[in-house]
Amino acid sequence: MGALEGSHLWHPFADMTAVIGNELVIDRAEGVWLWDEEGNRYLDATSGLWYANVGHGRARMAEAISAQIRRLDVYSTFNDFTNRPAEDLAARLSELSPLPDAKVFLGNGGGDGIESAAKLARLHFALRGEPERRHVIGRVDGFHGAFAFGTSIGGIDANQRHFGELVRETSQVDAQSIDALAAEIEAIGPERIAAFFFEPVIGAGGVLFPADGYLRDALDLCRSHGILTVADEVICAFGRLGEWFGVERFGVTPDMLVFAKGVTSGYLPLGGVIVSAEIAEPLWYGNPGNSFRHGATYAGHPTCCAAALTNLEILEEEGLLARSRELEDPLHSVLASLAEHPTIGEVRAGPGLLGALEIDPALRAERPAIVLDTHRAARRNEVMVRPLLDAIAVSPPLIVDQAHLDLIGTGLWAALDEVVADGEPS
Ligand SMILES: Cc1ncc(COP(=O)(O)O)c(C=O)c1O
Repeated sequence: MGALEGSHLWHPFADMTAVIGNELVIDRAEGVWLWDEEGNRYLDATSGLWYANVGHGRARMAEAISAQIRRLDVYSTFNDFTNRPAEDLAARLSELSPLPDAKVFLGNGGGDGIESAAKLARLHFALRGEPERRHVIGRVDGFHGAFAFGTSIGGIDANQRHFGELVRETSQVDAQSIDALAAEIEAIGPERIAAFFFEPVIGAGGVLFPADGYLRDALDLCRSHGILTVADEVICAFGRLGEWFGVERFGVTPDMLVFAKGVTSGYLPLGGVIVSAEIAEPLWYGNPGNSFRHGATYAGHPTCCAAALTNLEILEEEGLLARSRELEDPLHSVLASLAEHPTIGEVRAGPGLLGALEIDPALRAERPAIVLDTHRAARRNEVMVRPLLDAIAVSPPLIVDQAHLDLIGTGLWAALDEVVADGEPS
C-alpha cells in the first residue's frame, strides 16, 4: 500500500529496514480525517502525534498563516528584536497559565523546551549561589523528547541505549511512588537537586495516569526541599486534559510548564517554557549582565506564533476545552467495551480525551510484533492509532463526535479480530 521506490527519507525512531517499501504516504487531511495517496481514508484517532487538537485543514488557520507570511514572514527575536505575534502569544500564554505574571521562553517544539527548562533550572540555582544544585529527576516511563537532557531525564530505556551518558546528574524514580521520590532525594541530597520533571499524564511511555494524590504529594515534597518542579505539558495542555494545562486537572502548580504540540495544533512547529515570575526575576530585572545564554534561531517565529494565536482563539471560541471534558466519558465507554476483547489486557483511562489499550502481556510475550500488528490492522479498518511499547494509544482531535468514537470502537474491534485470525495456524 503506497510503497515508495528508493526513498531517501530517514524516519524518526523507525526501524528503516521494516519501513523501506512499506511506506504509507499521507496525502491530505480535513477535520478528523486523513487520506493516503491511494485515496484510502483514516480517522485520525491520535491527533497525529498528539497535536491536532482543533483538527486538520482549517481554512482559518491557513488564512492566518498566509496573512502573517505576507506581512512579516520571519525575523529573529535575538537581542532587542521582537514582533507582534511573539509578543501577543507570550502575553496570552502568560495569562492562560496558572503562574501569575509568568514569562514565556519560545522555541521550536517540546524537546527543545525541555532543554530550555532544565538549563534554566540549573542557572536559577547558580545565580542564587547554589551552583551544586544541578541534579534533575524524572520518572520511569516518562518521555521528554529526544535531545540530550530529555533523553537523560526520560525513563524509557530503549531511548537511552547505545548513546552513552548524555547529561550527567540525572536520574529516574518510579512514576507512582512518593516513597521512591523521597528516597532518591535523600540519596542524592536535596542540596544537589535542581528540579523534578513530570508529565501530568505520561504519554509515549504508555498513557499512564498518576495515582490519586501522587502529583500533589510529589510537588509538595519537592517544594519542601527547595527543588523546582517542571510540568512537561507537551501532550497534556491546550484541552487534551480538558483545561488549558493538564496540571489544573490535578490541582497542582509547578514552577515551569513546557508546552508544544497543541499550542498550534501542529499546523506549524512551536514550543517553549512558561516560567514563574520568581525564576525569571533575577534574569529580567536590575541585573545587567545576567543573561540566559540559550535560544533557537526560530524562537518567536512570527508565522508560527500567528498560527498559535489563531489556534488558541479557535480552542476558546468553539469551547473545545469543555468539549474535551464532555467527550471523556464517551471515549472511556468505547475503550471499556474493547476491554472485552481477548487480546486486551488493561484499559488505561482517566481525566482527559486520551487513553490506551494494553495488549495482553501473554500475547505480547508470544508475538513481540503484536502491538505493531494491531496498529496496522486498525489502519486497514479506517482507524489510525498509535503503537506504544505495550499498548495502542487513542487521543482523537477535540472536535470528534459520538459517531467518530463509535467508529473507533468498531474499527478497533474488527482490527483486534484480524490480529487474532492472523496469529492462528493456517
Ligand atoms: C511529553 C513530551 N515531551 C516532549 C516531547 C518532545 O517534543 P518534540 O517532539 O516537539 O521535540 C514529546 C513528544 O512527543 C512529548 O510527548
